Amino acid sequence: MAQFRLPKNSRITKGRRHDAPADAKNTKTFRIYRWEPEAGENPRVDSFTIDLDRCGPMVLDAVIKIKNEIDPTLTFRRSCREGICGSCAFNIDGKNTLACTTRIEDIEGDVRIYPLPHMPVVKDLVPDLTHFYAQLESIEPWIKTDTPAPTRERLQTPEDRAKLDGLYECILCACCSTACPSYWWNPERYLGPAVLLQAYRWIVDSRDEATGDRLDELEDPFKLYRCHTIMNCTNTCPKGLNPAKAIQETKKLLLERRS
Ligand code: SF4
Ligand code: F3S
Ligand code: FES
Repeated sequence: MAQFRLPKNSRITKGRRHDAPADAKNTKTFRIYRWEPEAGENPRVDSFTIDLDRCGPMVLDAVIKIKNEIDPTLTFRRSCREGICGSCAFNIDGKNTLACTTRIEDIEGDVRIYPLPHMPVVKDLVPDLTHFYAQLESIEPWIKTDTPAPTRERLQTPEDRAKLDGLYECILCACCSTACPSYWWNPERYLGPAVLLQAYRWIVDSRDEATGDRLDELEDPFKLYRCHTIMNCTNTCPKGLNPAKAIQETKKLLLERRS
C-alpha cells in the first residue's frame, strides 16, 4: 500500500506540557494544535491538564481558562458563547463542531482540539475563511427584487415562510464545508455545503424575484454538481441542519425546469 508523509515543515512536533495544579482532584487533559507562522517552527500539539472543578462545563470554557490562566498566546475565535455566532468552530475529538455547545463530560479521555480541517491556518485554532466568505458573497445572499414593495414589508404566507425553516438557522460556522471531501478536493470551484444551503435559502424565498438567475448561476459542473452525497455535512452540522437535502432540492429544481 502506498504510504504518504506530510512535507517536513507540516509534520507535528512534540509540544509543551502543562500539568494541573497539585491540589486538583478532577482533571482533564486538552491536547491543542499550535502553530505560529512568524515563529518559523513546525506545528505542535500542546497538552494542558486542568482542574475541572474550577472550570465551566463546555469545551470553550476550558479553552478560555487555558488562555486566561496558562498560556495567553493561545489563539482562537469566539464571541457569543451560545451557539449563535459560529466563530468557535473547531475540530474537537475528530468532529467539526462548536466549542461553546460541546460539553467536556461528553468526551471520553483527552480532548483533542484542532482547527477546522483543510483550511489555511492563520494561527493556532484560527482558519483563514477569506475564500469561504468570497464564495458566500458570490451567491448574493440578500433579497433581490424588481417590483416595488406593495407595503412597507414584503409579506409571506405562513406556508411560504415555513419553507425557510431548516435554512435560516445556519450560522455560517463552516463546520459542514470543511468536513466535505468534495470541498477538500475542489475548494476553488465547488461552493461547498454551507454556501449551497445559503443559495437554496434565497432560491426558495417567495419574496425573492431572481430565482431563475440564481439557478442559472448554479447550473455548472463544479459549483453544485461536485456534491456526491457524501453526507459528512449533515452529520457534522452543530445546528442539526441538513445541507445535503438543500443541495438535493436545488438539483431537483434544475431538473424540473429542464423537463
Ligand atoms: Fe454551520 Fe450547519 Fe450552517 Fe454548515 S449548515 S455552516 S455546519 S450551521
Ligand atoms: Fe459534501 Fe455533503 Fe455533498 S459532505 S459531497 S456536500 S452531501
Ligand atoms: Fe458563538 Fe460558539 S462562541 S457559536
